Amino acid sequence: MNKIKKIAVIGGGTMGNGIVHLFAQNGFDVTLVETKKEFADRAIATIDKNLERMLSKEKITKEDKDSALGRITTSLDLNNTVKKIDLMIEAVPEIFELKKSIFSDADKYAPDHTIFASNTSSISITKLAAQTNRPERFIGMHFFNPVPVMKLVEVINGLKTSSEVTDAIMTLSEKLGKVPVSANDSPGFVSNRVLMPMINEAIFTVYEGVATAEAVDQVMKLGMAHPMGPLRLADFIGLDVCLDILNVLYDGFKDPKYRPCPLLVKMVDAGKLGDKTGEGFFNYSK
Ligand SMILES: NC(=O)c1ccc[n+]([C@@H]2O[C@H](COP(=O)([O-])OP(=O)(O)OC[C@H]3O[C@@H](n4cnc5c(N)ncnc54)[C@H](O)[C@@H]3O)[C@@H](O)[C@H]2O)c1
Repeated sequence: MNKIKKIAVIGGGTMGNGIVHLFAQNGFDVTLVETKKEFADRAIATIDKNLERMLSKEKITKEDKDSALGRITTSLDLNNTVKKIDLMIEAVPEIFELKKSIFSDADKYAPDHTIFASNTSSISITKLAAQTNRPERFIGMHFFNPVPVMKLVEVINGLKTSSEVTDAIMTLSEKLGKVPVSANDSPGFVSNRVLMPMINEAIFTVYEGVATAEAVDQVMKLGMAHPMGPLRLADFIGLDVCLDILNVLYDGFKDPKYRPCPLLVKMVDAGKLGDKTGEGFFNYSK
């Protein structure tokens, strides 16, 4: 279990390229699997740019940067790649059927000892693990954006995850310079179960005309010492992502306290998704 040396990361988007960066910078050989060469190239270019920024701030040396990049390979062939690895981390879009097909394919080709991890924000780890014949070697490794910077890894145990696998992933996360926190599989895990109702309540406060978005964020920043107000954070995460996660909580617990605010639904319908569309609770077009 302590011999996790070769890693494959599936998906090189926002989270995947950060996870590849993190492992390579900490001395691991890592293969990024993507669907198209241009996507893999784009991920490598992002990692290069982020390492260059660290170099310019003298956080790493030129040698560190070059050796990190030298440890990364890319592949378009999932099945062949997983034949040689100790840990696979999946970071493809939050679509159950897509994740299911990746895990059930990889399960046929990966060695028995290989641990499978998912970076899912909200899909049940137990349900994903059940798509494979290795549920005891299946775990959630929930990183936070931007991965090289954010300290937390939420380590999620599925119903059948073995304690050896949890221990191995906790130790590995520490080797990566992160602080792992272990939790059991449940809708939203800990992070989103606590965060999303707060964001939703902040949106209800605006919806009901109690205060403006600016005022709500000021209260939470200045009164509660939050570095970012809940509505600014919601825009950063993406209002569509927030709505999806609230729906996971609402469906998972069947509890009306997770009912997404109608204003959130309306904003998503209107395509006001936050930073990525230039407008959400705040305007980013300038
Ligand atoms: N963005 C966040 O802040 C955040 C935070 C924590 C967890 N997550 C979770 O991480 C996962 C990835 O999110 P993201 O924001 O990085 O998504 P993204 O859309 O930025 O990236 C997904 C990448 O996966 C690639 N991909 C799609 N199908 C693939 C396949 N079959 N094989 C290989 N690659 C494939 C896409 O080309 C894309 O580059 C999701 O489960 C999400 O819920 C996201």
